[in-house]
Amino acid sequence: MIFKDPRIHPSQITPRAIVENRRQWLKTIALGSAAVGMGSWLERDAFAKTAAPREKLPAKFNEQYSTRETQTSYEDATTYNNFYEFGMDKDDPAKFADRLQTRPWTVSIEGMVKKPVTLDIDALLKLAPMEERVYRLRCVEGWSMVIPWNGYALSHLLNRVEPLGSAKYVEFISLADPKQMPGLKRPVLNWPYREGLRMDEAMNPLTLLTFGMYGELLPKQNGAPIRLIVPWKYGFKSSKSLVTIRLTEKQPLTSWSASAPREYGFYSNVNPAVSHPRWSQATERRIDGRGIFAPKIKTEPFNGYGEYVAKLYAGMDLRKFY
Ligand code: MTE
Repeated sequence: MIFKDPRIHPSQITPRAIVENRRQWLKTIALGSAAVGMGSWLERDAFAKTAAPREKLPAKFNEQYSTRETQTSYEDATTYNNFYEFGMDKDDPAKFADRLQTRPWTVSIEGMVKKPVTLDIDALLKLAPMEERVYRLRCVEGWSMVIPWNGYALSHLLNRVEPLGSAKYVEFISLADPKQMPGLKRPVLNWPYREGLRMDEAMNPLTLLTFGMYGELLPKQNGAPIRLIVPWKYGFKSSKSLVTIRLTEKQPLTSWSASAPREYGFYSNVNPAVSHPRWSQATERRIDGRGIFAPKIKTEPFNGYGEYVAKLYAGMDLRKFY
């Protein structure tokens, strides 16, 4: 297979701001036609968004790890997504992820641990106190969002299974069910979606096992019912809809580095000094509702979380370990 980076889909060549504007313009047109009695799609659109009841997920605000920056709107965070199991366009996950059955759901925690276990999602929700953390998430494509996530440190779960001394890495495997996920028909990645962290990265208090956002259970397009958020790494490390967490001795092969090893390394720390082979990573566009007025802002090393994580990489050449 000739590798074609699905993240550079033609739709992405249109800057987000222009797409936003175009959507607004389309809505305006639709409003006009509704006024003359034509088309009710806008109403249906509104209905679709409110039809599914949204379940609250109470959580205690975590001051220390939360940014006070302007938050991305719920609308943007749930309609502009990457979740290739549901398609390659940014709006495919919102369109198709309703097919995903998120209950019953179990996650098995296995591999180099003393006490392997398969836990039901309800048990996972109760395993540790739920926190709200407002994190920046920076996509490798050059856009970023600020989202209040609900979850708890992954370390709570890992400690529960008692990692063996030989466990050096953690592998994260997402669901891959062709009956529920139309995007699996395309061999854009080696399914299932696989990611990985080094043990100390996985145990870092910033690494969040995530069940919700904006005080509610995760929408399906954002990785329900359980995903990872690793805020100092490019967004693709934050795997969605997890079914297996495996502790390993060897560095796991991740889906993106298997597809394009020169472009996506294992570490994938946000690093403005190391360009992607096809574009710079020095700046980003924050999706914060300003549309075409959103200026490009400087990307910070480790996405601004260096005080918590830079020490994990002391002495490592981050050009080599990209
Ligand atoms: N997880 C799975 N299983 N499949 C994916 O395609 N995309 C990743 C990541 N997790 C992806 C995934 C990428 S590229 C990004 S930028 C983030 O999810 C996007 O998360 P969001 O849609 O909630 O903003």
